[in-house]
Amino acid sequence: MNTQSSDLSPHNSLLITGGAGFIGANFVHYWIKNYPDDRIVVLDALTYAGSKANLAPVESHPGFRFVHGDIRDYDLVVNLLGDEHIDTIVHFAAESHVDRSIHGPDAFVDSNIIGTHTLLKAAKTLWLDSPSSTSRTKSSALSPQSSSYRFHHISTDEVYGSLGLNDPGFSETTAYAPNSPYAASKAGSDFLVRAYYKTYGLPMTISNCSNNYGPYQHPEKLIPLLILNCLEGKPLPIYGDGLNIRDWLYVEDHCQGIDMILKKGRLGETYNVGGNCEKTNLEVVNTVCAILDKLKSLSPQSSALSTQSYSSLLTHIKDRPGHDRRYAIDASKITSELDYAPQESFETGMRKTVEWYLDNLDWCKNVIGEEYNKWIEQNYTQAG
Ligand code: NAD
Ligand code: DAU
Repeated sequence: MNTQSSDLSPHNSLLITGGAGFIGANFVHYWIKNYPDDRIVVLDALTYAGSKANLAPVESHPGFRFVHGDIRDYDLVVNLLGDEHIDTIVHFAAESHVDRSIHGPDAFVDSNIIGTHTLLKAAKTLWLDSPSSTSRTKSSALSPQSSSYRFHHISTDEVYGSLGLNDPGFSETTAYAPNSPYAASKAGSDFLVRAYYKTYGLPMTISNCSNNYGPYQHPEKLIPLLILNCLEGKPLPIYGDGLNIRDWLYVEDHCQGIDMILKKGRLGETYNVGGNCEKTNLEVVNTVCAILDKLKSLSPQSSALSTQSYSSLLTHIKDRPGHDRRYAIDASKITSELDYAPQESFETGMRKTVEWYLDNLDWCKNVIGEEYNKWIEQNYTQAG
Protein backbone atom coordinates (compact mmCIF):
# COMPACT_ATOMS: atom_id res chain seq x y z
CA MET A 1 0.00 0.00 0.00
CA ASN A 2 1.13 3.57 -0.45
CA THR A 3 4.45 2.74 -2.07
CA GLN A 4 4.56 5.92 -4.15
CA SER A 5 4.10 8.52 -1.50
CA SER A 6 5.40 11.97 -0.88
CA ASP A 7 8.50 12.55 1.18
CA LEU A 8 7.82 16.11 2.22
CA SER A 9 10.17 17.50 4.85
CA PRO A 10 8.89 18.81 8.21
CA HIS A 11 9.19 22.38 6.95
CA ASN A 12 7.95 22.97 3.47
CA SER A 13 7.99 25.88 1.12
CA LEU A 14 4.66 26.08 -0.68
CA LEU A 15 3.61 28.08 -3.73
CA ILE A 16 -0.14 28.59 -3.62
CA THR A 17 -1.45 29.80 -6.97
CA GLY A 18 -4.83 31.55 -6.85
CA GLY A 19 -4.40 32.00 -3.10
CA ALA A 20 -6.38 35.25 -3.13
CA GLY A 21 -9.50 33.48 -4.44
CA PHE A 22 -12.16 31.59 -2.52
CA ILE A 23 -10.70 28.11 -1.93
CA GLY A 24 -7.07 29.26 -2.22
CA ALA A 25 -7.51 31.83 0.57
CA ASN A 26 -9.27 29.32 2.81
CA PHE A 27 -6.40 26.91 2.14
CA VAL A 28 -3.80 29.54 3.09
CA HIS A 29 -5.65 30.20 6.37
CA TYR A 30 -5.92 26.46 7.01
CA TRP A 31 -2.25 25.83 6.28
CA ILE A 32 -0.89 28.66 8.41
CA LYS A 33 -3.11 27.59 11.31
CA ASN A 34 -1.92 23.97 11.10
CA TYR A 35 1.69 24.38 9.89
CA PRO A 36 2.80 27.83 11.11
CA ASP A 37 6.50 27.14 10.44
CA ASP A 38 6.09 26.53 6.71
CA ARG A 39 6.87 29.12 4.06
CA ILE A 40 3.74 30.15 2.12
CA VAL A 41 4.08 32.13 -1.11
CA VAL A 42 0.85 33.14 -2.83
CA LEU A 43 0.95 33.92 -6.55
CA ASP A 44 -2.24 35.57 -7.75
CA ALA A 45 -3.12 37.84 -10.67
CA LEU A 46 -5.95 39.48 -8.67
CA THR A 47 -8.58 39.09 -11.36
CA TYR A 48 -12.11 40.20 -10.49
CA ALA A 49 -12.32 36.96 -8.43
CA GLY A 50 -9.23 37.53 -6.29
CA SER A 51 -8.83 39.99 -3.45
CA LYS A 52 -6.00 40.74 -1.06
CA ALA A 53 -8.70 41.29 1.57
CA ASN A 54 -9.16 37.49 1.57
CA LEU A 55 -5.63 37.20 2.94
CA ALA A 56 -5.78 40.08 5.44
CA PRO A 57 -5.92 37.74 8.49
CA VAL A 58 -2.53 36.20 7.57
CA GLU A 59 -0.65 39.05 5.88
CA SER A 60 1.57 39.73 8.91
CA HIS A 61 2.43 36.06 9.45
CA PRO A 62 6.26 35.79 9.27
CA GLY A 63 6.37 32.94 6.70
CA PHE A 64 3.81 34.51 4.37
CA ARG A 65 4.52 36.38 1.12
CA PHE A 66 2.09 37.65 -1.51
CA VAL A 67 3.22 38.04 -5.13
CA HIS A 68 0.96 39.84 -7.56
CA GLY A 69 1.52 38.06 -10.86
CA ASP A 70 0.21 35.74 -13.53
CA ILE A 71 0.79 31.98 -13.69
CA ARG A 72 1.35 32.42 -17.44
CA ASP A 73 4.51 34.46 -16.75
CA TYR A 74 7.14 31.70 -17.11
CA ASP A 75 10.13 33.80 -15.99
CA LEU A 76 8.31 35.01 -12.91
CA VAL A 77 7.32 31.46 -11.93
CA VAL A 78 10.79 29.99 -12.54
CA ASN A 79 12.40 32.73 -10.46
CA LEU A 80 9.88 32.28 -7.65
CA LEU A 81 10.39 28.51 -7.54
CA GLY A 82 14.16 28.98 -7.35
CA ASP A 83 14.38 32.01 -5.04
CA GLU A 84 11.87 30.60 -2.55
CA HIS A 85 13.13 26.98 -2.74
CA ILE A 86 9.57 25.88 -3.45
CA ASP A 87 9.05 22.13 -2.94
CA THR A 88 5.25 22.05 -3.13
CA ILE A 89 2.92 23.76 -5.60
CA VAL A 90 -0.78 23.75 -4.78
CA HIS A 91 -2.40 25.01 -7.94
CA PHE A 92 -5.79 26.69 -7.46
CA ALA A 93 -5.48 29.59 -9.93
CA ALA A 94 -8.14 29.39 -12.61
CA GLU A 95 -11.10 31.10 -14.13
CA SER A 96 -13.78 29.26 -12.18
CA HIS A 97 -17.29 30.46 -13.07
CA VAL A 98 -19.27 28.31 -15.53
CA ASP A 99 -21.60 31.19 -16.52
CA ARG A 100 -18.67 33.45 -17.41
CA SER A 101 -17.14 30.64 -19.52
CA ILE A 102 -20.33 30.63 -21.59
CA HIS A 103 -20.09 34.39 -22.29
CA GLY A 104 -16.28 34.49 -22.74
CA PRO A 105 -14.40 31.19 -23.01
CA ASP A 106 -11.01 32.69 -24.10
CA ALA A 107 -9.89 33.61 -20.58
CA PHE A 108 -10.61 30.05 -19.50
CA VAL A 109 -8.38 28.53 -22.16
CA ASP A 110 -5.67 31.12 -21.37
CA SER A 111 -5.52 30.77 -17.58
CA ASN A 112 -6.66 27.19 -17.08
CA ILE A 113 -4.81 25.46 -19.91
CA ILE A 114 -1.91 27.77 -20.89
CA GLY A 115 -1.44 28.89 -17.28
CA THR A 116 -1.30 25.32 -15.95
CA HIS A 117 1.12 24.35 -18.70
CA THR A 118 3.39 27.28 -17.85
CA LEU A 119 3.53 26.14 -14.21
CA LEU A 120 4.26 22.56 -15.25
CA LYS A 121 7.12 23.69 -17.52
CA ALA A 122 8.61 25.80 -14.74
CA ALA A 123 8.32 22.97 -12.18
CA LYS A 124 9.97 20.56 -14.62
CA THR A 125 12.83 22.98 -15.23
CA LEU A 126 13.51 23.54 -11.55
CA TRP A 127 12.72 20.14 -10.05
CA LEU A 128 13.75 17.71 -12.77
CA ASP A 129 16.11 19.44 -15.21
CA SER A 130 18.17 21.51 -12.74
CA PRO A 131 17.09 20.43 -9.26
CA SER A 132 20.16 21.89 -7.53
CA SER A 133 18.64 25.35 -7.91
CA THR A 134 16.01 24.45 -5.30
CA SER A 135 18.61 22.57 -3.21
CA ARG A 136 16.39 19.52 -2.75
CA THR A 137 16.77 15.88 -3.73
CA LYS A 138 15.77 14.95 -7.25
CA SER A 139 12.91 12.50 -7.73
CA SER A 140 13.73 9.54 -9.95
CA ALA A 141 12.54 10.80 -13.31
CA LEU A 142 9.97 8.81 -15.33
CA SER A 143 8.90 6.67 -12.38
CA PRO A 144 9.14 8.58 -9.12
CA GLN A 145 8.72 6.19 -6.18
CA SER A 146 8.92 9.08 -3.79
CA SER A 147 9.91 12.70 -4.08
CA SER A 148 10.70 15.81 -2.08
CA TYR A 149 8.60 17.77 -4.54
CA ARG A 150 4.92 17.86 -5.28
CA PHE A 151 2.73 19.51 -7.90
CA HIS A 152 -0.85 19.24 -6.63
CA HIS A 153 -3.47 20.26 -9.14
CA ILE A 154 -6.93 21.32 -7.94
CA SER A 155 -9.61 20.20 -10.34
CA THR A 156 -13.35 19.72 -10.40
CA ASP A 157 -16.01 17.04 -10.69
CA GLU A 158 -17.37 18.96 -13.70
CA VAL A 159 -14.81 17.27 -15.96
CA TYR A 160 -16.88 14.08 -15.71
CA GLY A 161 -20.00 15.68 -17.23
CA SER A 162 -23.54 15.08 -16.05
CA LEU A 163 -25.18 12.14 -14.22
CA GLY A 164 -28.69 10.74 -14.51
CA LEU A 165 -30.74 10.55 -11.32
CA ASN A 166 -29.94 6.89 -10.64
CA ASP A 167 -26.33 6.79 -11.89
CA PRO A 168 -23.55 5.98 -9.41
CA GLY A 169 -21.35 8.92 -8.39
CA PHE A 170 -18.21 9.90 -10.34
CA SER A 171 -15.22 7.72 -9.51
CA GLU A 172 -11.60 8.36 -10.49
CA THR A 173 -12.05 6.03 -13.47
CA THR A 174 -15.21 7.69 -14.85
CA ALA A 175 -14.57 8.85 -18.43
CA TYR A 176 -14.15 12.60 -18.91
CA ALA A 177 -17.11 14.27 -20.67
CA PRO A 178 -16.91 18.02 -19.95
CA ASN A 179 -19.93 20.06 -21.11
CA SER A 180 -19.05 23.73 -20.48
CA PRO A 181 -16.01 25.65 -21.73
CA TYR A 182 -14.97 25.91 -18.05
CA ALA A 183 -15.16 22.14 -17.56
CA ALA A 184 -13.36 21.51 -20.86
CA SER A 185 -10.53 23.86 -19.88
CA LYS A 186 -10.16 22.11 -16.51
CA ALA A 187 -10.16 18.72 -18.28
CA GLY A 188 -7.39 19.99 -20.58
CA SER A 189 -5.33 21.09 -17.60
CA ASP A 190 -5.84 17.73 -15.84
CA PHE A 191 -4.56 15.89 -18.92
CA LEU A 192 -1.46 18.09 -19.09
CA VAL A 193 -0.66 17.42 -15.43
CA ARG A 194 -1.08 13.69 -16.02
CA ALA A 195 1.11 13.84 -19.14
CA TYR A 196 3.93 15.57 -17.24
CA TYR A 197 3.92 12.69 -14.76
CA LYS A 198 3.76 9.94 -17.37
CA THR A 199 6.29 11.50 -19.73
CA TYR A 200 8.74 13.33 -17.49
CA GLY A 201 8.07 11.88 -14.04
CA LEU A 202 6.96 15.20 -12.54
CA PRO A 203 5.74 14.24 -9.05
CA MET A 204 2.10 15.17 -9.06
CA THR A 205 -1.34 14.44 -7.61
CA ILE A 206 -4.76 15.70 -8.72
CA SER A 207 -7.97 16.20 -6.73
CA ASN A 208 -11.36 16.50 -8.42
CA CYS A 209 -13.74 18.12 -5.98
CA SER A 210 -17.46 18.84 -5.86
CA ASN A 211 -19.12 22.22 -5.18
CA ASN A 212 -17.54 24.11 -2.30
CA TYR A 213 -19.25 26.67 -0.09
CA GLY A 214 -18.14 28.79 2.85
CA PRO A 215 -16.43 32.11 3.71
CA TYR A 216 -14.86 34.30 0.99
CA GLN A 217 -16.78 32.79 -1.94
CA HIS A 218 -17.34 35.40 -4.62
CA PRO A 219 -20.96 36.67 -4.73
CA GLU A 220 -21.36 35.53 -8.35
CA LYS A 221 -21.72 31.89 -7.13
CA LEU A 222 -25.08 30.44 -6.10
CA ILE A 223 -24.93 30.43 -2.28
CA PRO A 224 -23.47 33.93 -1.67
CA LEU A 225 -25.68 35.31 -4.46
CA LEU A 226 -28.76 33.95 -2.67
CA ILE A 227 -27.69 35.33 0.72
CA LEU A 228 -26.93 38.81 -0.61
CA ASN A 229 -30.05 39.00 -2.79
CA CYS A 230 -32.19 37.99 0.20
CA LEU A 231 -30.67 40.78 2.29
CA GLU A 232 -31.44 43.29 -0.47
CA GLY A 233 -34.94 41.90 -1.08
CA LYS A 234 -33.97 41.06 -4.69
CA PRO A 235 -35.27 38.07 -6.70
CA LEU A 236 -33.44 34.75 -6.14
CA PRO A 237 -32.68 33.70 -9.74
CA ILE A 238 -32.93 29.93 -10.21
CA TYR A 239 -32.11 28.42 -13.59
CA GLY A 240 -34.80 26.21 -15.15
CA ASP A 241 -36.83 24.02 -12.79
CA GLY A 242 -34.25 24.23 -9.96
CA LEU A 243 -33.95 20.45 -9.77
CA ASN A 244 -30.28 20.29 -10.82
CA ILE A 245 -28.26 18.49 -8.17
CA ARG A 246 -24.85 19.38 -6.77
CA ASP A 247 -22.77 17.59 -4.09
CA TRP A 248 -21.89 20.32 -1.56
CA LEU A 249 -18.71 20.38 0.53
CA TYR A 250 -17.75 22.92 3.19
CA VAL A 251 -14.53 24.58 2.02
CA GLU A 252 -12.48 23.75 5.13
CA ASP A 253 -13.27 20.07 4.58
CA HIS A 254 -11.87 20.41 1.06
CA CYS A 255 -8.69 21.97 2.52
CA GLN A 256 -8.32 19.03 4.89
CA GLY A 257 -8.68 16.62 1.98
CA ILE A 258 -5.92 18.41 0.06
CA ASP A 259 -3.71 18.30 3.15
CA MET A 260 -4.19 14.52 3.39
CA ILE A 261 -3.40 14.04 -0.30
CA LEU A 262 -0.24 16.14 0.04
CA LYS A 263 0.90 14.16 3.05
CA LYS A 264 -0.24 10.63 2.20
CA GLY A 265 -1.48 10.58 -1.40
CA ARG A 266 0.29 8.36 -3.93
CA LEU A 267 2.18 10.13 -6.70
CA GLY A 268 0.53 10.07 -10.11
CA GLU A 269 -2.91 9.48 -8.58
CA THR A 270 -6.21 11.31 -8.75
CA TYR A 271 -8.47 11.57 -5.69
CA ASN A 272 -12.13 12.57 -5.88
CA VAL A 273 -13.27 14.71 -2.94
CA GLY A 274 -16.96 15.17 -2.14
CA GLY A 275 -19.36 15.96 0.66
CA ASN A 276 -21.71 13.01 0.24
CA CYS A 277 -24.30 15.76 0.31
CA GLU A 278 -26.45 15.90 -2.82
CA LYS A 279 -28.99 18.75 -2.88
CA THR A 280 -31.22 20.18 -5.57
CA ASN A 281 -30.85 23.90 -6.13
CA LEU A 282 -34.36 24.37 -4.70
CA GLU A 283 -33.22 22.62 -1.49
CA VAL A 284 -30.24 24.98 -1.33
CA VAL A 285 -32.51 28.04 -1.72
CA ASN A 286 -34.87 26.76 0.95
CA THR A 287 -31.98 26.10 3.35
CA VAL A 288 -30.51 29.59 2.89
CA CYS A 289 -33.95 31.17 3.30
CA ALA A 290 -34.84 29.13 6.40
CA ILE A 291 -31.56 30.13 8.11
CA LEU A 292 -32.05 33.78 7.21
CA ASP A 293 -35.70 33.70 8.30
CA LYS A 294 -34.41 32.77 11.77
CA LEU A 295 -31.41 35.12 11.86
CA LYS A 296 -32.71 38.23 10.13
CA SER A 297 -36.32 38.98 9.33
CA LEU A 298 -37.31 40.42 5.94
CA SER A 299 -36.56 44.10 5.54
CA PRO A 300 -39.47 46.62 5.41
CA GLN A 301 -38.73 47.32 1.71
CA SER A 302 -39.79 43.72 0.96
CA SER A 303 -42.96 43.82 3.03
CA ALA A 304 -45.07 43.85 -0.15
CA LEU A 305 -44.20 40.15 -0.51
CA SER A 306 -46.99 37.65 0.04
CA THR A 307 -45.27 35.84 2.93
CA GLN A 308 -42.64 36.81 5.45
CA SER A 309 -40.19 34.13 4.29
CA TYR A 310 -37.26 34.97 2.02
CA SER A 311 -38.26 31.96 -0.07
CA SER A 312 -41.03 34.09 -1.60
CA LEU A 313 -38.23 35.89 -3.52
CA LEU A 314 -37.49 32.71 -5.54
CA THR A 315 -37.75 33.37 -9.30
CA HIS A 316 -37.27 30.79 -12.03
CA ILE A 317 -35.26 32.16 -14.97
CA LYS A 318 -34.12 30.85 -18.35
CA ASP A 319 -31.83 27.81 -17.94
CA ARG A 320 -28.04 27.95 -18.23
CA PRO A 321 -27.02 26.56 -21.67
CA GLY A 322 -25.57 23.04 -21.34
CA HIS A 323 -26.58 22.99 -17.66
CA ASP A 324 -25.38 19.71 -16.10
CA ARG A 325 -28.25 17.97 -14.36
CA ARG A 326 -26.51 16.14 -11.55
CA TYR A 327 -23.06 15.83 -9.98
CA ALA A 328 -22.22 13.28 -7.28
CA ILE A 329 -18.87 12.07 -6.01
CA ASP A 330 -17.94 8.53 -5.12
CA ALA A 331 -15.34 9.33 -2.45
CA SER A 332 -14.49 5.72 -1.57
CA LYS A 333 -10.85 6.01 -2.74
CA ILE A 334 -9.88 8.96 -0.53
CA THR A 335 -11.97 7.51 2.31
CA SER A 336 -10.37 4.07 2.28
CA GLU A 337 -6.80 5.05 1.32
CA LEU A 338 -6.40 8.24 3.31
CA ASP A 339 -9.12 7.88 5.94
CA TYR A 340 -10.77 11.11 4.81
CA ALA A 341 -14.19 12.21 6.05
CA PRO A 342 -15.78 15.69 5.89
CA GLN A 343 -16.44 17.21 9.32
CA GLU A 344 -19.33 19.57 8.57
CA SER A 345 -22.89 18.56 7.75
CA PHE A 346 -24.80 20.70 5.24
CA GLU A 347 -26.81 22.19 8.13
CA THR A 348 -23.78 23.20 10.24
CA GLY A 349 -21.73 24.34 7.24
CA MET A 350 -24.56 26.43 5.82
CA ARG A 351 -25.28 28.03 9.17
CA LYS A 352 -21.60 29.01 9.53
CA THR A 353 -21.59 30.33 5.96
CA VAL A 354 -24.71 32.50 6.30
CA GLU A 355 -23.40 33.86 9.61
CA TRP A 356 -20.03 34.67 8.00
CA TYR A 357 -21.71 36.69 5.23
CA LEU A 358 -23.90 38.54 7.75
CA ASP A 359 -20.76 39.42 9.72
CA ASN A 360 -18.77 40.45 6.66
CA LEU A 361 -21.02 42.71 4.63
CA ASP A 362 -18.15 45.19 4.20
CA TRP A 363 -16.09 42.45 2.52
CA CYS A 364 -19.04 41.84 0.18
CA LYS A 365 -19.28 45.55 -0.68
CA ASN A 366 -15.55 45.55 -1.43
CA VAL A 367 -15.64 42.68 -3.91
CA ILE A 368 -18.81 43.91 -5.61
CA GLY A 369 -17.46 46.61 -7.91
CA GLU A 370 -18.56 48.11 -11.20
CA GLU A 371 -17.35 45.00 -13.07
CA TYR A 372 -19.61 42.79 -10.96
CA ASN A 373 -22.66 44.95 -11.56
CA LYS A 374 -22.00 44.79 -15.33
CA TRP A 375 -21.72 41.01 -15.06
CA ILE A 376 -25.04 40.72 -13.22
CA GLU A 377 -26.74 42.84 -15.88
CA GLN A 378 -25.22 40.80 -18.72
CA ASN A 379 -26.06 37.39 -17.22
CA TYR A 380 -29.49 38.00 -15.77
CA THR A 381 -31.22 40.08 -18.41
CA GLN A 382 -32.76 37.09 -20.20
CA ALA A 383 -35.20 35.89 -17.50
CA GLY A 384 -37.43 33.03 -18.70
P1 NAD B 1 -11.94 31.74 -7.59
O1 NAD B 1 -12.46 32.19 -8.91
O2 NAD B 1 -12.62 32.19 -6.35
O3 NAD B 1 -10.40 32.12 -7.45
C1 NAD B 1 -9.49 31.96 -8.49
C2 NAD B 1 -8.23 32.75 -8.14
O4 NAD B 1 -7.28 32.53 -9.19
C3 NAD B 1 -8.45 34.26 -8.04
O5 NAD B 1 -7.81 34.76 -6.90
C4 NAD B 1 -7.81 34.81 -9.32
O6 NAD B 1 -7.30 36.12 -9.15
C5 NAD B 1 -6.71 33.79 -9.56
N1 NAD B 1 -6.31 33.71 -10.96
C6 NAD B 1 -7.10 33.51 -12.05
N2 NAD B 1 -6.36 33.49 -13.18
C7 NAD B 1 -5.07 33.66 -12.79
C8 NAD B 1 -3.84 33.71 -13.48
N3 NAD B 1 -3.79 33.61 -14.83
N4 NAD B 1 -2.70 33.88 -12.78
C9 NAD B 1 -2.74 33.99 -11.43
N5 NAD B 1 -3.88 33.96 -10.71
C10 NAD B 1 -5.03 33.80 -11.39
O7 NAD B 1 -11.92 30.14 -7.68
P2 NAD B 1 -12.22 29.06 -6.56
O8 NAD B 1 -13.68 28.82 -6.50
O9 NAD B 1 -11.47 29.40 -5.35
O10 NAD B 1 -11.57 27.78 -7.25
C11 NAD B 1 -10.20 27.49 -7.07
C12 NAD B 1 -9.85 26.24 -7.86
O11 NAD B 1 -10.66 25.16 -7.42
C13 NAD B 1 -10.10 26.36 -9.36
O12 NAD B 1 -9.06 25.68 -10.02
C14 NAD B 1 -11.42 25.65 -9.58
O13 NAD B 1 -11.48 25.10 -10.86
C15 NAD B 1 -11.35 24.57 -8.52
N6 NAD B 1 -12.62 24.09 -7.97
C16 NAD B 1 -13.54 24.96 -7.47
C17 NAD B 1 -14.71 24.47 -6.89
C18 NAD B 1 -15.73 25.41 -6.29
O14 NAD B 1 -16.81 24.95 -5.90
N7 NAD B 1 -15.47 26.69 -6.17
C19 NAD B 1 -14.94 23.10 -6.84
C20 NAD B 1 -13.98 22.24 -7.39
C21 NAD B 1 -12.82 22.74 -7.93
O1 DAU C 1 -18.79 21.19 -9.21
C1 DAU C 1 -17.67 21.98 -8.93
C2 DAU C 1 -17.87 23.35 -9.55
O2 DAU C 1 -18.81 24.02 -8.74
C3 DAU C 1 -16.57 24.14 -9.64
O3 DAU C 1 -15.69 23.49 -10.51
C4 DAU C 1 -16.85 25.57 -10.15
O4 DAU C 1 -15.66 26.32 -10.14
C5 DAU C 1 -17.87 26.20 -9.24
O5 DAU C 1 -18.21 27.49 -9.71
C6 DAU C 1 -19.12 25.34 -9.15
O6 DAU C 1 -19.81 25.31 -10.41
P1 DAU C 1 -21.42 25.37 -10.50
O7 DAU C 1 -21.80 25.82 -11.83
O8 DAU C 1 -22.02 24.10 -9.99
O9 DAU C 1 -21.68 26.50 -9.37
P2 DAU C 1 -22.65 27.76 -9.33
O10 DAU C 1 -22.58 28.32 -7.94
O11 DAU C 1 -22.45 28.69 -10.46
O12 DAU C 1 -24.08 27.07 -9.52
C7 DAU C 1 -24.56 26.06 -8.65
C8 DAU C 1 -25.90 25.59 -9.20
O13 DAU C 1 -26.83 26.68 -9.06
C9 DAU C 1 -25.90 25.24 -10.67
O14 DAU C 1 -26.80 24.17 -10.92
C10 DAU C 1 -26.40 26.50 -11.37
C11 DAU C 1 -27.36 27.06 -10.34
N1 DAU C 1 -27.49 28.54 -10.35
C12 DAU C 1 -26.36 29.29 -10.24
C13 DAU C 1 -26.42 30.67 -10.25
C14 DAU C 1 -25.17 31.51 -10.14
C15 DAU C 1 -28.75 29.13 -10.44
O15 DAU C 1 -29.77 28.43 -10.52
N2 DAU C 1 -28.80 30.49 -10.45
C16 DAU C 1 -27.71 31.29 -10.37
O16 DAU C 1 -27.85 32.53 -10.40
